[in-house]
Amino acid sequence: MKAIEIRNKYLRFFEKHGHKIIPSASLIPENDPSVLFNTAGMQQLVPYLLGEKHPQGNRLTDFQKCIRTNDIEEVGDNRHLTYFEMLGNWSLGDYFKEESIQMSYDFLTKELNIPAEKLSVTCFAGDDDCARDNVTYESWKKAGIPDDRIYFFGKKENWWIAGEEGPCGPDTEMFYDTGKPKCSENCNPACDCGKYVEIWNNVFMEFYKDKDGKYTKLKQHNVDTGLGLERMAMLLQGKETPFDTELFSPVMDKLKELESEENIASRRIIAEHLRSSIMIINDGGRPSNVDSGYILRRLIRRMTRHINKLGIDLNKLPELIDISIDSIKELYPELENNREKIKNVLVEEKNKFTKTLKNGEKEFEKVSNRLKNSGKDIIDGKTVFNLYETYGFPPEMTIELADENNLKVDMEDYDKLYKEHQEKSRMGSEAKFKGGLADQSEKSIMYHTATHLLHKALKIVLGDHVNQKGSNITEERLRFDFSHPQKMTKEEIEKVEDLVNEQIKRDLVVTCEEMSLEDAKASGAIGLFENKYGERVKVYTIGDFSKEICGGPHVTNTGKLGHFKIKKEEASSAGVRRIKAILED
Ligand code: SER
Repeated sequence: MKAIEIRNKYLRFFEKHGHKIIPSASLIPENDPSVLFNTAGMQQLVPYLLGEKHPQGNRLTDFQKCIRTNDIEEVGDNRHLTYFEMLGNWSLGDYFKEESIQMSYDFLTKELNIPAEKLSVTCFAGDDDCARDNVTYESWKKAGIPDDRIYFFGKKENWWIAGEEGPCGPDTEMFYDTGKPKCSENCNPACDCGKYVEIWNNVFMEFYKDKDGKYTKLKQHNVDTGLGLERMAMLLQGKETPFDTELFSPVMDKLKELESEENIASRRIIAEHLRSSIMIINDGGRPSNVDSGYILRRLIRRMTRHINKLGIDLNKLPELIDISIDSIKELYPELENNREKIKNVLVEEKNKFTKTLKNGEKEFEKVSNRLKNSGKDIIDGKTVFNLYETYGFPPEMTIELADENNLKVDMEDYDKLYKEHQEKSRMGSEAKFKGGLADQSEKSIMYHTATHLLHKALKIVLGDHVNQKGSNITEERLRFDFSHPQKMTKEEIEKVEDLVNEQIKRDLVVTCEEMSLEDAKASGAIGLFENKYGERVKVYTIGDFSKEICGGPHVTNTGKLGHFKIKKEEASSAGVRRIKAILED
């Protein structure tokens, strides 16, 4: 049975049982800053679970687009997904355990035709907060599940809450027995050997857990259920993994055809991250350095690395996007309207990352060879940090590459260095308040890199006598004071602007090296306020254009900066001119 048929059957079944179909909420929550993505069907219903009246009544059903990112690193195995669709039905103070269980049983056995003997279920065993769930147990027996396929577990397995605080309660989970042999005498549905696959979770929400961990009874008893569509499609189609269903197989097949290095984990990572990225962009998400935008960026970067790893030309990405959209557009017809937008966002982000990836991988290889030659197998924190700081190569990618090369990473060491660095840059930014970079927002960092470009462009256009006399950056603009005896002409201003914009268009990579002050000078780096430097300095290099001693931080590529425009050129003091300039989107 195809995924779309399963979804349709589900919604029709619950509609027939008095439920109103409500639309899926967006993947990116509109009014909930506490979560990055929608992770469960109940999320949009929290106020109603707590007692508010829902305009559509007290029996609801839907399909909900979900992203769960705690297992990103696990994607590549035979089951983990970051994006999935959750089919759900809710009782808001209406029916409870017995009716909910009967409906679930009927749907599974009569609508999906799953043989009853393939089903096992679990119930809450009870503890100080809530008694053993005998009603659920009796309801399953009444529906037709025999004693030996009903299991009891504690909170870890049979209690559901989204996060730390909120509506919650005991749940009952349904499992499909794949028919594989038991892994041990004690093998049961809580075991993840693969014999039992969880298919549906019915939560009986009648408690509220507050931030002190105290449970109180809600005004009403609710039912909140969730059934994973991809997993159900996999089981009903007799497939071993979701990647073998119609939702992924066209992309998987294409990757197999294109790859020169065979690697099934990479194929799965690409197919999975591609679909998730498509769905996030479809709901308005865009790559950035914060929050959900950063998760999207991570997904695209990881996907890009694995396309590269399979030896596939990255220019094939638009074709892969088309195939992925075509495989799921029956489920999400709005993808058709957004197809071009999705492609543009993905391709642009892939392009931005490609250079970083190449440099980072090259550098990683050097590190790895060095280690192997010296008989070591642990990458220290400083190296991970350097790969990130200097090459923009994200730590999670270093970890992944290390893993592939049978190397370990000392993340404790890295975390320590990272914290130290954060502390230093915080102090640094406070110290620099008057002279330079007051804060380290993304925009300020962009202005910082633009300042280096401007400095060099001024030297080229006006002459080598130009030297920085002061710099001040806000979120809105940069201000740069420099030595020059007279007012700049209109032509000179335009030339400087053009030169800076040209470097932005070239999307130059910004790299950083640590060296002695002497070496820095010898390398031709522009030095400012020389008496302020310690013995060792950082030198930031922007492609082949600029080299400057500086504490950072900077963007990784100039392409991000947008359009550079000089708004004002005026006198600052005798022999010193002042430029105010902005970056336009
Ligand atoms: N909220 C529960 C879950 O996410 C049931 O929908 O599993």
